[in-house]
Amino acid sequence: MFKKLISFILAIVLLFSFFTLNISAKTVSKEDWGAYFSTLDNTQISITPGKNETELNFCWHSDLGLSAPKVRISENADMSDYSEFSGYSKFSELIDQRTNNVTVTGIEENTTYYYTYGTNGEFSKPVSYRTHSFDSFKFLFVSDVQPNYKSLSKMSLEEQSYEWNKTLEAAFNNNDDISFIVNGGDITSHKDNTDEWTAFLAPEYLRSYPNATIMGNHDSAKLQYKSYFYNPNTYYGISPTTYGQGYWFRYGDVLFIMVNSFKKNFFDNHMLIKKAVEENPDAKWRIAVSHIDPYGTGSHTFDDDELQAFKEQVVPAFDYYDIDLVLSGHDHIYGRSYFMKDDKVVETEGYNSGKVTDPEGIMYITATGSSGNSKVYTEEYREHTKSWLGMVKDEGRNDCYITIEITAEGELEILVFDKVTGEKVDNFTIVKTDYNFEHEDTLGGVIGHYFKRIMGEYFVIFEMFGDLYKKISEIFFA
Ligand SMILES: [Fe+2]
Ligand SMILES: [Fe+2]
Repeated sequence: MFKKLISFILAIVLLFSFFTLNISAKTVSKEDWGAYFSTLDNTQISITPGKNETELNFCWHSDLGLSAPKVRISENADMSDYSEFSGYSKFSELIDQRTNNVTVTGIEENTTYYYTYGTNGEFSKPVSYRTHSFDSFKFLFVSDVQPNYKSLSKMSLEEQSYEWNKTLEAAFNNNDDISFIVNGGDITSHKDNTDEWTAFLAPEYLRSYPNATIMGNHDSAKLQYKSYFYNPNTYYGISPTTYGQGYWFRYGDVLFIMVNSFKKNFFDNHMLIKKAVEENPDAKWRIAVSHIDPYGTGSHTFDDDELQAFKEQVVPAFDYYDIDLVLSGHDHIYGRSYFMKDDKVVETEGYNSGKVTDPEGIMYITATGSSGNSKVYTEEYREHTKSWLGMVKDEGRNDCYITIEITAEGELEILVFDKVTGEKVDNFTIVKTDYNFEHEDTLGGVIGHYFKRIMGEYFVIFEMFGDLYKKISEIFFA
């Protein structure tokens, strides 16, 4: 009888929690979205991670004219006791507006903040921004939002941004503890179409969650990208390019390296990875984000020019610098690779159990699209990709969202959910007990490694020149 009473009480409590969850969950109807969307333009603010977890970068467009951008931040909703930060303003490329950039410093963990921003003494309404722990944290990974003003699916920009918002809604309604968003690129479809930028920026979540983005092929020329995101630690490289730059940032023990995979000089990508890793020797995890998915899932795996060049010239740097995880988009189909090293699968004990400890090699994840534009895995792709893919989502075409949680105890957990059905599509955990940073001692360091991948067996020629150089140095400069 007593047991029955306890079960009854538990059932009531569960029912009540379920009801509360549904009540607190935010879902926007199509009608409400339409009314909201019609009020928007491209001046919506975007926030990005700063160079580490204690900083936050702000970027927004304003009309031409004098601009002295400022952001005020406070722990109080009425903005009392605020701190004020000034930034700089420049002409935006291709459009008659100014871009405003401000960095806020001194952000602390487990704190709720409110910020307002303005360019000429008039400030916006306060917006909330909440931090969680810096030691253990969770981020959201999405990709390929790319709203398209002439979409083949005949969806309007309003409908595509509604779908993008639905992806974020599903993620945030089920994860109250996300700290920021990582976006694998193809932000828009036509890079210089301002309406597509408006559609991308539309979800209000982007006002409260920093958004670490990387350019995709759709973003990589006629750069409006850099006037919408104020990224930290930009690496300009040694070759002038109109295709944008990569950057890096730290969050707790994790180094994020954002690689612009459509930069025409891959050597600069190499040097970006080198610089980021060497400046963060204490990082326990290294996560790279590149739009191109070298071990991907779909039609782009048949691209033999750019993909092949990326595999030959950038992937070796991932190997060399002991990257743990590479996050990509581009193919619009979810996939998870086996652990890969030197372009080969590394047999990994426990891989099929979904949890491995101190694996050798790198796991590559490809995300779906995020605004109703995910693709279907076909028999042709299955045949082509089966040698490197351990898991792929191939049952349908719904967008998925991916959460990645890193704990202070050394675990990195990847969870993938279908945004429409809520079904858990995939999960995998990497445990790290050994944080030693090791890499192959190749002649010439990372540059030698780069040549080794390109030259294959002919690398011996490079080694012969290396030996010759050493001998000459010993004779003449010893
Ligand atoms: Fe794409
Ligand atoms: Fe792409």
